[in-house]
Amino acid sequence: MAILSIDSDRAARLLNIGPLVIVSTTYQGITNAMPLAWICPMGYNPATISLVMNRGAYTRVLVEKSGLFMVQVPVASQINMVMSLGTQSLADNPNKLAESGVELFTVEGAQGMPMLHGCVAWLLCRLIPDQYLEEHSNMLIARVEDAWIDEDVFDNGYWNLENCATDKQPLHYVAGGQFYTTGKLIQADIDE
Ligand SMILES: Cc1cc2nc3c(=O)[nH]c(=O)nc-3n(C[C@H](O)[C@H](O)[C@H](O)COP(=O)(O)O)c2cc1C
Repeated sequence: MAILSIDSDRAARLLNIGPLVIVSTTYQGITNAMPLAWICPMGYNPATISLVMNRGAYTRVLVEKSGLFMVQVPVASQINMVMSLGTQSLADNPNKLAESGVELFTVEGAQGMPMLHGCVAWLLCRLIPDQYLEEHSNMLIARVEDAWIDEDVFDNGYWNLENCATDKQPLHYVAGGQFYTTGKLIQADIDE
């Protein structure tokens, strides 16, 4: 798998398909990750996103302390890892990541943020501090500072999932452990 750096203003395009993501971060030697279905692009330049992250999630505590986190797009082959990460807390199980089958790496430019092996897109995000949101809301807002993609699933600035095996398709969460994979591409008539 080759990972390519792409402009952070492409972040919206990565999220436009509505994928389930995994948020990971690390702070003072504690590394955690949680799946998150409720994420939304809010602007291109600078690339800005909003996330609904439960104030009770340990990942959120670490995100607020570190100010930096990674948003990544997992694929169908990681469905059980996703459910394992999303049905237990690191606060209760310090071995959550290892027992969920998570393998971590990082790349130059990722400022030490943990990236999950096997995902197909990664967005390095910096929390926009907001006292009201932090104290009263499950929502967080962040800037995307950098982004990387697996070159097998991206072509010329666009997702290229048509020829990907089902195992390598992003996930779209329904409920109760059910997901869809990304569906068939169709093209509208547009003037270029
Ligand atoms: C498929 C899936 C999607 C989820 N989406 C969200 C979400 O959008 N927002 C959220 O706050 N929690 C979401 N969760 C729940 C968290 O991932 C869960 O609370 C997790 O155990 C938190 O772990 P932590 O306490 O170690 O951070 C989701 C869980 C699953 C399984």
